[in-house]
Amino acid sequence: MNESPVDQKHRPAVVIMGVSGCGKTAVALVVADRLHWRALDADDLHAPGSVAKMRAGVPLSDADRWPWLDRVGAALVDTSPSHDGTVMACSALRRAYRDRLRAACPGLRFLFLDGDPDLIATRLARRRGHYMPPGLLASQLQTLERPGLDEPDVLHLDLAPPLNEVVERACAALASPPAHTTIP
Ligand SMILES: Nc1ncnc2c1ncn2[C@@H]1O[C@H](COP(=O)(O)OP(=O)(O)OP(=O)(O)O)[C@@H](O)[C@H]1O
Ligand SMILES: [Mg+2]
Repeated sequence: MNESPVDQKHRPAVVIMGVSGCGKTAVALVVADRLHWRALDADDLHAPGSVAKMRAGVPLSDADRWPWLDRVGAALVDTSPSHDGTVMACSALRRAYRDRLRAACPGLRFLFLDGDPDLIATRLARRRGHYMPPGLLASQLQTLERPGLDEPDVLHLDLAPPLNEVVERACAALASPPAHTTIP
């Protein structure tokens, strides 16, 4: 059966956001699996030049980020009938980046993985086979504009519990109507 454009527009999408090592990719993959949504990773949409910069430990500039965010925004709009929604892992560190994504994908929700920088650093130090050098964490923490209470549709989630627990909480939060919520 064909879907109308209205149905396509209303297919849900969530961005799992936060600094490098907060668990975006790990959480997005399992949440997508549980909800039968598709999992995407904004890291896969960087231009080759940006990947080279990150590998070299050079922080990206906004000039690098705007075209990347536009690719992420376009990818968030899910028109495929084979998925019930989209989970995107994307750092979305600044309010302006999040607003750019909201403009591309109306109704977009964010799930902010928040927690102790020392714990994040420990997890990054253990992580293997990833191009993001752990030293970039400090610059990401500096860039991060924590979503404020005035920001719509942001769920705050503690990254400290084991992965399956974080995923449980994320799925439960996504099952409730959009609101600015802190998950205990
Ligand atoms: N809740 C958790 N408990 C334990 N380990 C976790 C948890 N969440 C993520 N990890 C581990 O922490 C490391 C960082 O997670 P992940 O790669 O998903 O972070 P990320 O936010 O996607 O980082 P980047 O922005 O660099 O891609 C990984 O090795 C992952 O397996
Ligand atoms: Mg990742």
